[in-house]
Amino acid sequence: MHESYSSSLKSLHTFHLDVHCAHIIEITSVDQIPKVFERLENRPHLILGRGSNVLFVEDFKGTVVLNRIGGIEIVEDSEFYHIHVGGGEDWPDFVSSMVDRGIGGFENLAMIPGCVGSSPIQNIGAYGVELDSLCTYVEYVDLQSAQTVRLPSSECGFGYRDSIFKHDIKDHVFITAVGFKVPKLWQPNLSYGALSESIDGDITIKSVFEAVCQTRKSKLPDPDEIGNAGSFFKNPVISKAQYSQLKDTFPNVVGFELEHGVKLAAGWLIDQAGLKGTLYGGAQVHPNQALVLTNPNQASPNDVVGLAHLVRRDVLEKFGVELQHEVRFIGALGETHLDALVSQL
Ligand code: FAD
Ligand code: EPU
Repeated sequence: MHESYSSSLKSLHTFHLDVHCAHIIEITSVDQIPKVFERLENRPHLILGRGSNVLFVEDFKGTVVLNRIGGIEIVEDSEFYHIHVGGGEDWPDFVSSMVDRGIGGFENLAMIPGCVGSSPIQNIGAYGVELDSLCTYVEYVDLQSAQTVRLPSSECGFGYRDSIFKHDIKDHVFITAVGFKVPKLWQPNLSYGALSESIDGDITIKSVFEAVCQTRKSKLPDPDEIGNAGSFFKNPVISKAQYSQLKDTFPNVVGFELEHGVKLAAGWLIDQAGLKGTLYGGAQVHPNQALVLTNPNQASPNDVVGLAHLVRRDVLEKFGVELQHEVRFIGALGETHLDALVSQL
């Protein structure tokens, strides 16, 4: 275990804001967890993977605990690969290593920044695949009882960018590992239309992986170059009735029919509200992908919060649709939300 008091968080989250915390602790094995959290009890603390889905809205007045638990174990039977992965493993590296071994199933989820242990929290998804279709269990230490729990995927409450880890058991679990099961008989998932168009030649695990990487590079800013946390807002789900009204006024509105409603493309709404490229202090609506808010020019936390507020307000005014942020807002003592901050702007 390594304990550090160099408290800058700038390189520990992908928005790269100039924010600080009191202490940083790195966890490298499961047996360190009970002792560390016993010491932190009743004191502010935040578990962090790669910081690619968080916005620090101010300095964090507590301890940041980094998940760096490694290890990948693969067991195979005649039909499946069963894979147990340490929560601190890097997700994009894990996906690349599966592709290199010829193990299919993960390739559509290439290049999603973050740790494997964070992946079930918002049930990461991209290009037609969500984590829950691959995940068999999530292992965590219950921070109240110090017991290790292996929760079957069926009990994780997975939904669109959602899981039990954001609700019922939020704040008292440390996710230490994730289990996956993928069939040896690989079937490509090319349900995201543009994917097959960008594959030249044979459809293989590698060619799908490369098409996903190429598509992502063409749309999404690299956080190492321009700070961002991916899609800032979730794609809102509205009723079929509201959708049909919206379509009367905006015939080109982009929506995907679900069983109980329609999921709108928030990027389209923000784009059509004329906000692409909008600057607010050092923060900007990404000129190529309006759903991504970026930090191109040493933005302060308030710049990003102010821009998020402006985007949400304009989309609500124009389309009558309220956006919810996907990015987790972190205040001085723990999680907060845009609504709670608007009055302070
Ligand atoms: P962090 O940001 O470090 O943490 C996220 C939350 O989980 C925090 O509240 C944290 O306290 C909590 N947490 C972290 N680790 C643990 C743990 N071990 N136990 C308990 N709680 C924990 N997401 C998608 O779904 N699809 C995409 O296509 C996608 N593309 C992206 C592209 C870019 C350029 C970026 C920057 C982000 C993108 N994201 C995407 C969002 C992000 O990659 C995912 O949410 C990712 O799973 C976050 O992992 P992380 O380790 O960085 O989590
Ligand atoms: N669009 C615009 N203008 C824009 C951006 C998008 O008109 O500026 C339109 C596109 O033309 C397209 C539609 O909106 O018709 C959807 O865009 P895209 O396919 O790029 O996907 P998205 O809805 O913006 C979602 C996820 C991404 C994921 C991609 C690919 C959410 C919130 N976002 O983005 O996930 O990578 O699909 O599957 O669901 C993330 O969660 O951080 C993330 C990046």
